[in-house]
Amino acid sequence: MRTEVVIIGAGPAGLLLSHLLGEEGIESVVVETRSREYVEARVRAGILEGSTVDLLESVGLGERLRREGDEHRGIYLQWPGERHHLDFVDLVGRSVWVYGQTEVQKDLGRAREAAGQEIHYEVSETAVHDVESDRPAVTFLDRDGREVRVEARAVVGCDGSFGPSRGAVPATVKQTWGRDYPYAWLGVLADVAPSTDELIYAWHPNGFALHSMRSEHVSRLYLQVEPDADVGTWSDDRIWDELATRLGHGQDGWQLTPGPITEKNVLPMRSFVMEPMRHGSLFLAGDAAHIVPPTGAKGLNLAVADVALLAPALTALLRKNDERGVDAYSETALRRVWRCTHFSWWMTTMLHTSPDPFDAQLQQSQLRWVTSSSAAARGLAENYAGLPIGF
Ligand code: FAD
Ligand code: PHB
Repeated sequence: MRTEVVIIGAGPAGLLLSHLLGEEGIESVVVETRSREYVEARVRAGILEGSTVDLLESVGLGERLRREGDEHRGIYLQWPGERHHLDFVDLVGRSVWVYGQTEVQKDLGRAREAAGQEIHYEVSETAVHDVESDRPAVTFLDRDGREVRVEARAVVGCDGSFGPSRGAVPATVKQTWGRDYPYAWLGVLADVAPSTDELIYAWHPNGFALHSMRSEHVSRLYLQVEPDADVGTWSDDRIWDELATRLGHGQDGWQLTPGPITEKNVLPMRSFVMEPMRHGSLFLAGDAAHIVPPTGAKGLNLAVADVALLAPALTALLRKNDERGVDAYSETALRRVWRCTHFSWWMTTMLHTSPDPFDAQLQQSQLRWVTSSSAAARGLAENYAGLPIGF
């Protein structure tokens, strides 16, 4: 089989890239190990930067988002006894949207289906070949076990943190950086109206807590836990008690309303960056090239920003044989990647408690600074609400 671009992975990066290429009349084939139902049900990120929303809207993916998503002006930052609102619109003129990754994934799935996009779900043994030539190929076994080979002008690895694309860049060429944090998040989804209008990021001596949401009726909450925490030791009552303590139930009359928990999982916290994001005819985008801890709400937005750069670069290559965009892709994308890597590390280390009492003093000093100095608050707001695509 031959196409113009083979995309490995039908997560947000892969499907959005196929959509952006499709808008330019460029043909692609997408391959994905999981089923469509599985990728659409995977509960992950929940916050979209304004520029992500603008981009989705500009390519016909904004209708349900604007209708069902919830625009937030900012966030609350708190520690025992104090809660402060940072208003991003006042600080930097930009807002963020609450709209789950599951919904982005469903909107993309429907749009690609309507456009007749070729997507092979439930494949196995995906392998990348000949990336140092201009006729790279991807082979895989389709869901019926048949061997398939697709040749193209470019292969894009949008296959997340565990896919094979990263490994197709030779060790002599690539450089990686990373950090494993000494804590994890216990994430829960609950069928209860959020107890807050905007997200609450809470520093507490027992550990960090975050109150997020998915809709008027569904709350998403997180607790800092040990990296090897066993979900089985976290009963629903224990989770709600700990959330109440860390989020300040009773503080100035604020109440956390508990409800039925429908999902619980432990998420490891990692930073990872790989350079370059292009090797020959292979390009990497999203979690395939970089991972951030979720405290800055950047993972999904970074994946969108990568493919927003890559789609016009591949279009120029394929339509005009103009290589300038693809040549600049890695360096341009990495500028934003490192900015978000720093911001996510900074938010993480400011808010998660460690056994070291010196850290706690520095964290509280930083929290006071970002909630009392408008210069500091604007720095946080500019990063959280998102720098323009192409920054
Ligand atoms: P992914 O969404 O990971 O998509 C990659 C796709 O490639 C997957 O569908 C995968 O099945 C497929 N794939 C893998 N290997 C192969 C192969 N060999 N062949 C074909 N296909 C393959 N961010 C937040 O802001 N908040 C959160 O709470 C949050 N929770 C997360 C929880 C988890 C468990 C993970 C992994 C990430 C979470 N993130 C969160 C980050 C955010 O969801 C990611 O940054 C975002 O999904 C990146 O999109 P992507 O398309 O690059 O990668
Ligand atoms: C979420 O709603 O899942 C969410 C929100 C903000 C974060 C991380 C996760 O920083």
